[in-house]
Amino acid sequence: MTKIAIVYHSGYGHTTKAAEAVHAGAAGAGADATLYAIDAEGNLSDAAWAALDAADAIVFGSPTYMGSVSWQFKKFADASSKAWFTQKWKDKIAAGFTNSASMNGDKHSTLHYFMTLAMQHSMAWVGTGMMPSNSKAAQRNDLNYLGAFAGLMTQSPSDSSPAEGPLPGDLETAKQFGARIASFAAKSKG
Ligand SMILES: Cc1cc2nc3c(=O)[nH]c(=O)nc-3n(C[C@H](O)[C@H](O)[C@H](O)COP(=O)(O)O)c2cc1C
Repeated sequence: MTKIAIVYHSGYGHTTKAAEAVHAGAAGAGADATLYAIDAEGNLSDAAWAALDAADAIVFGSPTYMGSVSWQFKKFADASSKAWFTQKWKDKIAAGFTNSASMNGDKHSTLHYFMTLAMQHSMAWVGTGMMPSNSKAAQRNDLNYLGAFAGLMTQSPSDSSPAEGPLPGDLETAKQFGARIASFAAKSKG
């Protein structure tokens, strides 16, 4: 079975909801998907690091804070230099998602950071592969309303609780993104 590790940080719980939706989509597509939360100190257990090394695909997730990843995610990324030295993650599938309060909010900078991290690890990047909902008729809860190709973007209004945000259409987009990652991971495993 294809193994997918979703490693993410969430300060207040909104990005966790996006991570859970990506997980549901990947698991629904037949993958053995597991969530690994980076804790408030930016740490991950030894067992989680071992699971990342064993995965066929690693999905990175972080809220966008001040136009980039949270410091906890960056601490994790810096710690991944241990795997980088031996290129342990080479040729694994990689993908990423971010959640923030503004419709734009500079989320692309966060996705771009994930892509660079994946390239440093010589991984193969998978985007959303999903057309944007951007016509006059488009509604906020349509698929990929935020129009991202590089990775998944979700938006949680600044005064929303994690139960209220990310919005439902973004969570459905997250599920389809998870299914796409599972499909690529299965293909690359052969
Ligand atoms: C320190 C900090 C910086 C933030 N910077 C941004 C930002 O650059 N763009 C944005 O749209 N929202 C920004 N936000 C809002 C968060 O992205 C938003 O509240 C998000 O839902 C938090 O996700 P979390 O609950 O997983 O931590 C910021 C929030 C905090 C606490």
